[in-house]
Parts: sequence; C-alpha cells; structure tokens
Amino acid sequence: MKPGNEILSSYGTTVFEVFSRLAVEHGAINLGQGFPDDRGPPDVLAEAARALAEESNQYPSMMGAPALRQALAAHARRFYGLEVDWQSEVMVTSGATEALAACLLGLIRPGDEVVLFEPLYDSYLPIVRLAGGVPRLVTLRPPGWGFGRADLAAAFSARTKLVILNDPLNPAAKVFSGDELALIAEFVLASDAYAVCDEVYEHIVFDGRRHIPLMTLPGMRERCLKIGSAGKTFSLTGWKVGYVTAAPALLQPVAKAHQYLTFTTPPNLQAAVAFGLAKDDGYFTGLAAGMQAKRNRLAAGLEAAGLTVLPSAGSYFVVADYRSTGFQGDDVAFCRHLTTEAGVAAIPVSAFYDGPPLDGCVRFCFCKRDDILDGAVDRLRRHFARGPFRTA
Ligand SMILES: Cc1ncc(COP(=O)(O)O)c(C=O)c1O
Repeated sequence: MKPGNEILSSYGTTVFEVFSRLAVEHGAINLGQGFPDDRGPPDVLAEAARALAEESNQYPSMMGAPALRQALAAHARRFYGLEVDWQSEVMVTSGATEALAACLLGLIRPGDEVVLFEPLYDSYLPIVRLAGGVPRLVTLRPPGWGFGRADLAAAFSARTKLVILNDPLNPAAKVFSGDELALIAEFVLASDAYAVCDEVYEHIVFDGRRHIPLMTLPGMRERCLKIGSAGKTFSLTGWKVGYVTAAPALLQPVAKAHQYLTFTTPPNLQAAVAFGLAKDDGYFTGLAAGMQAKRNRLAAGLEAAGLTVLPSAGSYFVVADYRSTGFQGDDVAFCRHLTTEAGVAAIPVSAFYDGPPLDGCVRFCFCKRDDILDGAVDRLRRHFARGPFRTA
C-alpha cells in the first residue's frame, strides 16, 4: 500500500492518549489530559439547548454568526481596550485548534521560518511542517522558563514569517511579563513578521495578574492574530468553538484556509458562546478564582507528597519536579510508574519539546473536582510515604 503523508505519520500516538489509556487500564485518577470535569455554566448550556430547539440548524455564515462576532468585538473592548470591527476582523472557528491550523496554513509559504517557544502545544509543529514552514525554536527551561535578547536574536531573522506565542503557556503555566512581550514585539517588528497568539487561557490567570494580549503593544495591532477558545473560557472543552481576531489583511488569507478546513461551526454553540461572553465580570473573575483555589489545593498536596512544585501563574496546569522523591529515571518512566503503581496519571513535560528533552518534570492538571484532586493527593502521599526510591 502507498504510504500516507509522511509529515503527519512521523508523529506517533499523542502522549495524552497513551497516558489516558494507561490510566483507564490501571484505574488511575487522570490528572494528565486538560479538561474540567464540571458541567460548565448552566445558563450557557441552557442557551445552547434553546438555540438548538428554536433556531436554525443550517450552515451559519462562514466567518461566524454575527451575534458571536459582535460579542467578540465587545469582549475585546471590555477586557483589553481593543477596538475591533466585528465584520472584517473576527472569525469563528471549530476550536482554537482549527484557528491555529487556519492561521498557519493561510500565512506560511514553503521555506518561511517560524519561531516557536518550547515547551509547545502538540498541534503547532505538525501544522507548521505541513505548511512547509521551517521551525526555529526558543527553548525555555524550568524553573523560571525565562529567555533573553540573545535567545530571540538566535531564532529570528529576515526570513521569519511569524512567531507562535502561547500565553499563558501550556504546560509551563508561565504568564509572559510586559518586558518579555515588549522584547518579542521588538523582534516581530524588526523581522517584519506576524505573531499568532494562542491565548486560550486568557481568563485563567492567577494572583491578581492581568492577561496582556501581545496585540495591545505598540505596533502589534496590525501584526497579531489573537486566538481564543470558548472551551477554556466556559469549561466546555468538547464544544470546540474558537475564534481569531486580526486586522483585515491578515484575516483574509486565514479565512481562505478556514473555508476549506471546516467552513463553519455549529450555530447553537455559537449562540450560546455569544451569550456567555456577555456575562458579568463576576463570571470571569470567578473562573480565575475557582481555578486558583484548585491550583493551591493540588500544589499543596503535591508538595506534601514530596514533589517540588514550580510556580503556576495561569492555565489548567502545574509542573512538578519529581527528583525530590528520589525516583531515578526519566519523566516518561516516572509517569508510567505513577500511573501503574500510585494510581495517578500525569504527563511528562519532555513530550512538549522537539529538541533535546527536558528531564525531571511532569505536568498535572488541576481543573478537576476537589474530591478528585484530594483522592489523587491521598494516593500520592501514601505511595511516596513508603519511600520506594530512598536508598538511605
Ligand atoms: C495551548 C492550547 N492551545 C489550543 C488548545 C486547543 O483548544 P480548542 O479545544 O479550542 O481547540 C489547547 C487545548 O488544550 C491548548 O492547551
């Protein structure tokens, strides 16, 4: 038989799938894959049900339902002071994943260089490569996940077409500082490049921080494509409703890609997300506060179990260094051990690196019910209390 596309088939089964399967096999509590286990806001669910029963279920407009695009423009103004024309600068997609694919396929020409920060979300590199882009990686390492001018100077060049920036950053749970964003903006301008900004966790930032879209920095309004996800903002990850906001000249080629990828997104879900985006400030601050409480709960439990927890400034995740438990082995071996022996699944952080893998760190997801988090911590404490790796 003739082979399939070798770029895509060179990627194995995702690590999320591998550990989710192993978790099921061993009855482990799954803190690997990042999805909340609550029901989501009841009024948003009710609006989806109402629209399904009462409104059209035929193809909505290719750019997205006007009500949702208007709600997204209002959201940009309300949270970031951005003036956005809903007709020419907003497009609805089937999840942030499709928004990312449409941006990359719509903008990259074969041979264009693409700057990415690793650790990176798993869909970026396959699509960059599929589009013929040449990845240039900036490697961030724990515990600070920092970078400087020299790192960007080594990655950016006149051939840079775009940078992909995920802020807040999965899995590092890093929120980029104003100075870091300004440095990235400087390099984007100097390379005459664009920035594809994956901001799916824009409303999940902690400890009084405010998310700063790169698009709000001087010179960036015309160069950024800002991507969001209703899945994260409303804890409804299965809905796969995403959106991209960009200046008309940037959005047009992206809309061409979207036209041939999915064309549109279920109309009742679009209606419900439009409703949700108009919810009062209490909903958005409550989302962040609720996640922050879960972060605190899991982080304290992991520390008590003997792991070294790194700061988590945003997202659904916390990274922990397991070397303090005495485990001798790489992070994949640790996750396998944790799933099969302790009954808790996590994700090895090395899976988010394309270059030489990082060792010693695993990612736990805390967007779960408190009793689930407590159950996982209990298992970990009991497991490590037995001191299976201590030789002294
Ligand atoms: C950084 C990042 N980008 C994009 C996505 C995908 O978002 P969606 O479910 O809206 O496609 C995720 C989901 O986990 C993510 O973590």
